[in-house]
Formats: sequence, C-alpha cells, structure tokens
Amino acid sequence: MYTKLIKDGVFLLSKNIEGILFEAMWEMPSGVTLNSYIVKGEKTAIIDGFCGWDGYPESLYELLEKIDVQLEDIKYVVINHMEPDHSGWIEDFRKMHKDFEILCSKESAALLEAFYSHTDNVRIIGDNDSVDLGEGKVLEFYKAPHVHWPDTIVTLEKSTGILFTCDNFGSFGTAEEHFDDELNAEELAHYESEARRYFASILGAFSPMLKRAVQKIEKIPFEIIAPGHGIIWRKDPKRIIEDYKYYADCNIKCTNKKATVLYGSMYDMSLKALPTIEEVLKEKEFEYTLINVMETDYASVLMDVLTSSAIVVLAPTYEYKMFPPMISTLKEIAIKKLSSRAVLYTGSYGWSGGAFKALKELSENERTKWDIVGDYGFKGSPTEEDLNKLREGLVELTERI
Ligand SMILES: Cc1cc2nc3c(=O)[nH]c(=O)nc-3n(C[C@H](O)[C@H](O)[C@H](O)COP(=O)(O)O)c2cc1C
Ligand SMILES: [Fe+2]
Ligand SMILES: [Fe+2]
Repeated sequence: MYTKLIKDGVFLLSKNIEGILFEAMWEMPSGVTLNSYIVKGEKTAIIDGFCGWDGYPESLYELLEKIDVQLEDIKYVVINHMEPDHSGWIEDFRKMHKDFEILCSKESAALLEAFYSHTDNVRIIGDNDSVDLGEGKVLEFYKAPHVHWPDTIVTLEKSTGILFTCDNFGSFGTAEEHFDDELNAEELAHYESEARRYFASILGAFSPMLKRAVQKIEKIPFEIIAPGHGIIWRKDPKRIIEDYKYYADCNIKCTNKKATVLYGSMYDMSLKALPTIEEVLKEKEFEYTLINVMETDYASVLMDVLTSSAIVVLAPTYEYKMFPPMISTLKEIAIKKLSSRAVLYTGSYGWSGGAFKALKELSENERTKWDIVGDYGFKGSPTEEDLNKLREGLVELTERI
C-alpha cells in the first residue's frame, strides 16, 4: 500500500492487486488498484476504506504515519458504496478504533447492518448534504444510485474540488504513476482501454442509471476525478467522463460499423463459414474482431461487443441446442444488457439443428432487443448454396445497423 498527496491535505492510499479474479469471476490481465482517500481538516475523514490493508494494526499505523495522521484523528468514515472492495475493511478497523461516525446513504446503512450487523454511529446523508471537517475542508454528498449498487454516492471535497466517484469513472490496471498528468499518450490509452474492460464487465448493465448519474455529476463544481479504481484525472477529467458517456451509450445502442464475430467449434466444420464472413464484412467496410469463445475470457468478449453494432455467432448444434461455450458467452452478453444489436447465426449441425432456436429463446428470455437476422445453419460442411445464402444474410446484417 502506498500514499500520495493529491492536493492540499487530501491523500490517495492505494494498493495494487494482481493474480485474482475480480468479483471472483473477471479476468484482470493488468490487475486493479483499490483506492481510498484521506481528507485532513481539523477532523480527518477517510473515504472508501483501506481495502488493500492486511488487517494488522502495525501496517495501518505505519501507513498513517507517512501522512501524519493519528488513528484518533479519524472522525469520519465515508462509505460511497458497500461492495466489499470498498468497505470490506470496516470490521477490522472497528477493532482498533471506535470513535468515528459513518457517513453513508440509507441504502448503504441497510447493507452495513445486513453484512456486519453494524448500526451505531451511522449518519445517513442525502443529496447535497454536507459535513464540515474544519480548516476549510467540507464534504458534500450526491446520490448516484446503481453505479454500481443501489447505495452508491459520490463525495465532493469542496475546497480542492476533488470528487470521489467510487466505481464511476474507474478502470482496471495497476498503477505506479497515479495521475493523468504524469502519464504519456500510450499509458493514458492503456488506462482508457482498462476503463472499457472495467465498464463492460462491472458497470455496463447499469448504463441508463450511469447516464443519469453522469448528468448529475456534470453539474457538480469539481476539478479532479478520484475514482475507487484506477488513476486520478487531475489534468483532464473530461476525458474519462466522455469515455464513460460513450461506453454507456454504446451499451444501450451501438451504431459503429463494427462487428464482433464469435466462433466456437469442436471439429472445425463450422469454421468453414469463416472466410465468407470475413469477405462480406470487408466488402461492406465493417471493422471486425474474431473471437474464439473457448479461449477468451468473458470480460474481453464484453469489451469488444460493447463497441460493435453487429454480432456474428458461428457455432455448431450440440445436443439439440447451441454449443455450450457459445450459449454461455451469449448469455453473459445478454446479462450485461448489450442490447439493440443486429445478430446473425450460422454454424454446422449433423441431423436436426437446434442452435438457432436456442439463440432465439435466450434472446426472448433475456429481453435483449437483439435484431436477429436469421438462421444460416448448415448440415455438415457448407455447400456453395449455403455460403451464398449466408452471404446474403451477412449483407442484410450490415444493412440493419
Ligand atoms: C456431443 C455432440 C452433440 C451433438 N448434438 C447434435 C444435435 O443435437 N443435433 C444435431 O443436428 N447435431 C448434433 N451434433 C453434431 C454436430 O452439430 C456436428 O458434428 C457439427 O458438424 C459439429 O460442428 P463443428 O465441427 O463446428 O464442431 C452433436 C455433436 C456432438 C459432438
Ligand atoms: Fe462496486
Ligand atoms: Fe469497486
């Protein structure tokens, strides 16, 4: 864990986490940071908790000593969001220090009770409420429900203009240089890509609520964006805000001339349709990505589909349904509400088919709003006629955008 001064008595405490799956399921090839913040006024507040802390008092004292904070100085703990990557430290912390008040939304308070049976010294704050820490430091709170849980708030420190946005504007990726003004163009692009990965796997399903939250945030007089994960946007906070607006719009409806071609096959019969797919997408000047669903983690699939208006599904029939790695990938895409996409199915079957029906059922059950172009399944190896029909279907797919 390490500390950095952001501005005038406001510090970042951060830990790089690698080699685990986020939420026990999402691959993070570049890891993630867990960020907390200390605001020093006459009273000190901690925002979003020391979640990288190992639970040992010595390590906490050592950390606080670096920024000249005594445990007794901490009078407020601000819970922006009760997910344990932000608030899982609180019970360990309470064993060492009791004289503090928790500031959180009423939804967070209910979760605090449900998770940790904690009900005392909790002050429920609502929109535009503020708490004066003394020495010019004032915290102001804004509700941002469902970014990512129903309880989420964002917290502004008014004198420095630092807005602590929790999951909103977060990204994956560990960090050493923690501010946008310390990074070169390539490094910034890396964090933007990691933000897309984070958005697609963690926040995408909440895009309509996120858009509402961003509209609200844009009216707050902030200067710096300090999220719970990733880097701090001190020089150009607009950049990550614009990225997030774009991702949320794309999640709901994407109009890019781009297709994600998802493929999976047992014996390579289905793959015989792949050259035709590439040919038509090139002809129609569609950008496209080929993704083997058996070798690709869900987060990588989702971050690609996020910016595609079309999905081509290439997979065989399996036990009268769709090849299992493909249907589970499609289900994940549906769960993340990557809706309003044009979708085409093709792939091989032996005797009955069934993959297309499984796709339609999934789409109906999950209310995907996918515009399904049609069934271009073929028996065994595709004939010239099969491929010609497929070509027509693909042309139609590109025209449905
Ligand atoms: C375990 C298994 C289950 C299958 N179930 C069906 C089925 O229910 N209906 C059908 O038409 N074909 C079924 N098939 C046949 C495949 O769809 C066919 O072999 C197809 O060519 C495989 O395509 P691939 O080479 O792209 O994997 C099954 C094949 C396997 C191995
Ligand atoms: Fe979260
Ligand atoms: Fe988080």
